[in-house]
Amino acid sequence: MELRPLGDTGIQVSLLGLGTVKFGRNQQVKYPSGFSIPDDQSVSSLLHQAADLGINLVDTAPAYGTSQQRIGKLLPGAREQWVIVSKVGEIFENGHSRFDFSFDAALRMVQQSLLDLKTDYIDCVLIHSDGDDLRILRQEGVFDALCELKSRGLIRSHGMSSKTVEGGLAVVDEMDVVMASCNLEYNDELPVFEAAAARGKGVLVKKGLMSGHVGGEDGVRASMQHVLAQPGVSSMIVGTINPLHLQQNVTLLESLNP
Ligand SMILES: NC(=O)c1ccc[n+]([C@@H]2O[C@H](COP(=O)([O-])OP(=O)(O)OC[C@H]3O[C@@H](n4cnc5c(N)ncnc54)[C@H](OP(=O)(O)O)[C@@H]3O)[C@@H](O)[C@H]2O)c1
Repeated sequence: MELRPLGDTGIQVSLLGLGTVKFGRNQQVKYPSGFSIPDDQSVSSLLHQAADLGINLVDTAPAYGTSQQRIGKLLPGAREQWVIVSKVGEIFENGHSRFDFSFDAALRMVQQSLLDLKTDYIDCVLIHSDGDDLRILRQEGVFDALCELKSRGLIRSHGMSSKTVEGGLAVVDEMDVVMASCNLEYNDELPVFEAAAARGKGVLVKKGLMSGHVGGEDGVRASMQHVLAQPGVSSMIVGTINPLHLQQNVTLLESLNP
């Protein structure tokens, strides 16, 4: 699997990353069908399979239920062989999301993520935006908190999982990594990709398979082709708990990007 630089962070990431929402949360999600959260053996086997296929990036968040604890418990091999991307700002409790982007909450939440992930550093922490990207960046304390955590060596890089073009462009200016959406039916954020490519910043793509609404092998292939054709892409993060889909995704991606 091709590794690409995550912007100018010095971190190398596999072109396909593993999204792990489904490791820990099956409420308030937008997938085409319901599912059961996989047991430890299935998650462990999926992580081993990902490593064997050359995937080194796992994308998680405190808001993904037990995803972080499970990664902390089950991630195979040496810590340094993985790039862990987490988030901060969204809290999912009792079936509902709430958001806290204050300085203190960000420090607390990242400390908890370090404990849950059983690690002493996180490769990248993204602000988990509620959609009000610019307000969060300009009026809340989370940006300063991430800068402090980075200066203390607890996180290697920072960024935002943004939802607007203006927000994404500000992230490209001021932070290391942007996570933005792009798929066959949604291309509004492409100016963010272009800006990141021009500035040498990292781009993680979310929702590339329209959260599973692309349907079938041809749909997955066309979706990947579309995402890979965009400028600046460091890694396409695809969520799956199905080992056959994981294998298929790697095979398809490598056939498009030999
Ligand atoms: N920060 C944010 O605001 C945010 C928002 C959304 C997503 N994300 C991150 O981005 C990741 C990806 O986003 P996403 O999960 O919304 O959407 P996605 O990757 O576009 O789609 C995931 C869905 O596609 C299905 N899928 C995967 N491979 C497939 C294949 N080969 N054939 C058919 N179906 C397939 C998966 O089902 P199976 O499990 O059955 O394979 C899953 O339901 C997330 O896991 C998360 O890490 C972040």
